[in-house]
Formats: sequence, C-alpha cells, structure tokens
Amino acid sequence: MSANKKATLTYADGKTTEFPVLGGSIGPDVIDIRTLYGKTGMFTYDPGFLSTASCSSKITYIDGDEGVLLYRGYPIEQLAQHCDFLEVCYLLLNGELPNAPQNKNFVDVITRHTMVHDQMTRFFQGFRRDAHPMAVLVGTVGAMSAFYHDSLDINNPEHRKVSAMRLIAKLPTMVAMAYKYNMGQPFVYPRNDLSYTANFMRMMFAVPAEDYKGNPVLVRALDRIFILHADHEQNASTSTVRLSGSSGANPFACIAAGIACLWGPAHGGANEAALNMLEQIGDASKVGEFIAKVKDKNSGVKLMGFGHRVYKNYDPRAKLMRETCHEVLNALGLHNDRLFKLAIALEKIALEDDYFVQRKLYPNVDFYSGIVQRALGIPTSMFTCIFSLARTVGWIAQWQEMIADPEYKIGRPRQLYDGAPRRDLVPMDKR
Ligand code: CMC
Repeated sequence: MSANKKATLTYADGKTTEFPVLGGSIGPDVIDIRTLYGKTGMFTYDPGFLSTASCSSKITYIDGDEGVLLYRGYPIEQLAQHCDFLEVCYLLLNGELPNAPQNKNFVDVITRHTMVHDQMTRFFQGFRRDAHPMAVLVGTVGAMSAFYHDSLDINNPEHRKVSAMRLIAKLPTMVAMAYKYNMGQPFVYPRNDLSYTANFMRMMFAVPAEDYKGNPVLVRALDRIFILHADHEQNASTSTVRLSGSSGANPFACIAAGIACLWGPAHGGANEAALNMLEQIGDASKVGEFIAKVKDKNSGVKLMGFGHRVYKNYDPRAKLMRETCHEVLNALGLHNDRLFKLAIALEKIALEDDYFVQRKLYPNVDFYSGIVQRALGIPTSMFTCIFSLARTVGWIAQWQEMIADPEYKIGRPRQLYDGAPRRDLVPMDKR
C-alpha cells in the first residue's frame, strides 16, 4: 500500500484537514480516514458501506464496471476452466496455486478429514424433519466448536490451519447430512477414493439400497459451481465472518454467522428465490406481465438473480454459469428445459429494457445456478447450503488474513444518533 497522495477536507470556515490516500495494486485508491474523529470530532456516514473499504485484502479483486473477478490475481474464467475446486481452495488459502506434490498433500489432508464426530448425528436429530436445511446448517456448524475445541486458539497459526482444513473437509458432509435428515434417509458416510465433489454428490444421493455413480459432466458442473462461489471479497456474509472474528470468536462460530447472513434472499438465498420466481412465471408468454410488475415500485417484486452491489456489468460468473447450464442440460438430454428457455427469454427482455439498462442491472451468478442445480437433482431448499459449502473456503481465508493482519482490531462501527436527546424519566402514575 503506497501513501504518496493526500486528500484534503475543507470546511465551510475554510479550515482544512489532510488525509493520506492509499493505493492498492489495482482498483480505486482509498482515503485513509482513521484519524478523522481524532482530528475533527466527526465520523463518516455510510450505511450499507457504499463507499467504505473495511479492510485491505490480497485475496479477491472485483472490477464491477468491467465485469472482472480475480482470485489471487487469476481470472475466474481461467480458474474455472483449468482447475478443480480444491486447487482453488489451496490458492485462496495460500496465495499461490499448488504444484503437484503440494496439491496431493492438500487433497490427502482434506480427504482424511471429511468424517464428522459421530455424536454430531444427535444434533441433527434434535431438529424437526421439515426444518429448512439452512436452519439446520447454521446450528450444526456452530455446534462444531463444541466438538473440535482442540484447535480453537485463534492466536496459534497451527490451530487456525487445522480449523480451516476441518471446515473445508467437513462442510460437504454436514450439508449432505442436512439434506438426508430432511429427506428422512440415513446419513451416507464419506468415501476417500472419490474426489471432493464426487464424494459430496454420493453423500447426497446414495442410499443403502443403491449406490450413486456420479456422471463426470455433472460432477464437473457442481465443482465449477463451487469454484464460482468460493470467494467474492467483502460481501455481506464475508464481512459478517470478519466482524464476528474480530472479537476473537472461534472460527466455527464465525462461519456459522456467515452462513446465517448468506441465507438472506438478497445474498445467497437469491438462487433459490430466482428458481422460485421462474416457477411462478411459469411460461415465456407471462414474461412481459412479470417485467411490468418488477418495474412497478409499489409491487415490491424484484427480478431475482439480477443486479449486484458491485457488478454494473455482466457478472463474469453468470456467463460461466450459463455455459455450464448448457453443458449440463445437453448431457442430460434436457436442452428443451422449460425453465432454462424461460430464463433466456427473461434475460433477453430485461437486458433490452430501459429500466434495467439505466440501472445497469445484469444477471448475476444466481440467475442460472439454480437451473443447473435443479438439473443435478438438488432441491431448491438446498441451494444456499451448497453456496455455504463453496463459500466456506473464502470465509476462512478472509478470517485467516484478518487475524494475521497487524492492523487487525475489533470491528466497531459508530453511528449518527438521531433518537431522543437526554430526558428525565416520568414515574408510571404520571405518564
Ligand atoms: N430487480 C428490480 N430492480 C432492481 C433489482 C432487481 N433485481 N436490483 C436492483 N434494482 C433497482 C433498485 O430498485 C434501485 O432502483 P431505484 O434506483 O429506482 O430505487 C436500483 O436498481 C439500484 O438498486 P439498489 O437496491 O440500490 O442496489 P443494491 O446495490 O443496494 O442491491 C442487490 C444489490 C443484489 C441486493 C439487488 O440488486 C437485488 O436485490 N437483487 C436481487 C437479489 C439477487 O439476485 N441477489 C444476488 C446477488 S449475487 C449473489 C451474492 O453475492 O449473494
């Protein structure tokens, strides 16, 4: 971070205060206002963090205007084409792609940690069978800190590493267990001879009466979904993980907090909402009517899977997801899939409509990911769990980066108070 430039704040009375301007390796500069309150007695006001960089990070870079996404400098398109998910996990955690021996060692470690403590099964049994799998996942991932307390010293880099490995290795098992519990089927144990993603699909879809053999095209498609969702800089759930972790909370608790945040329909819940929306529209002939509803501010209806806080251009992940959608539907002989056709029609109309053009609203990753997951046999209620599984590596990499950062402090935003000024209490009989 270089700080050769300065920004000057000028007040109405002509007084000025200077602040350093920090430059990153790419992307916009930031004004370092850490001394603002001390120098001026004022805070900045930025609800929703529209203009606030909450930290410095070396992990992920997004250029929302150009539609660029880089993990550790590598374009998402190259990673999605040439790497598998565990290579991407290694990259996000360590900053470099693994060579062959490093990759083998990493895959071995992850593979050998996929089983969960047997008593975890009782936690699942405490939930209603019809509970939303995300409700179950938030609870059970939080409960992991009760099982793996030998690695909870956040000041010990080895403990942090062990917790990171445990989370990445066990999340697929936990997500599959949440699904099986919901389905009323027995849990399926992991198998070490399968790849990370093939193993996950087997834990989801095998039953004692019949094993599951993953179709390589479908395994690759899900692996790509994992890659595309692995990290996305300081989004709501990642900021939640960082903020939770800033108090020194253990990593399992922080990831549970991230999962809770991700569940919201404006964030990770959008792919579930997007698919539900397509089901509701039902037919290409209803697209015009639906778009009119979206444009009517009083309707409260949004085009789910469209728009993004950062991307004001086509989300690069959405392009890859549309491509994957084609591959999966072709592999399954579903090229005439009703919802895919409907999604294409909806996208075309929205991209030509002034409302969306003026607001720079483009499809995001969630617009097509639901269709792919549905084709893979994953029920809608599991979509955000899959997102949680994939994002765990990003959360844990960001958490590790924060703890190791010498500038790390507890996160403590301030506020503009506009409530009642100081007043004296009136006894009950006089109110
Ligand atoms: N449909 C209709 N109008 C929209 C949409 C949408 N999907 N998204 C934004 N707008 C309008 C919004 O009403 C506002 O209009 P106006 O200026 O007239 O008031 C304008 O576009 C700017 O929107 P905003 O709400 O200020 O944008 P934001 O940055 O606060 O919100 C968002 C970003 C992702 C929450 C929002 O676009 C949205 O709710 N999209 C639908 C949900 C969705 O697909 N979320 C997935 C995000 S990608 C995956 C992830 O990162 O989790």
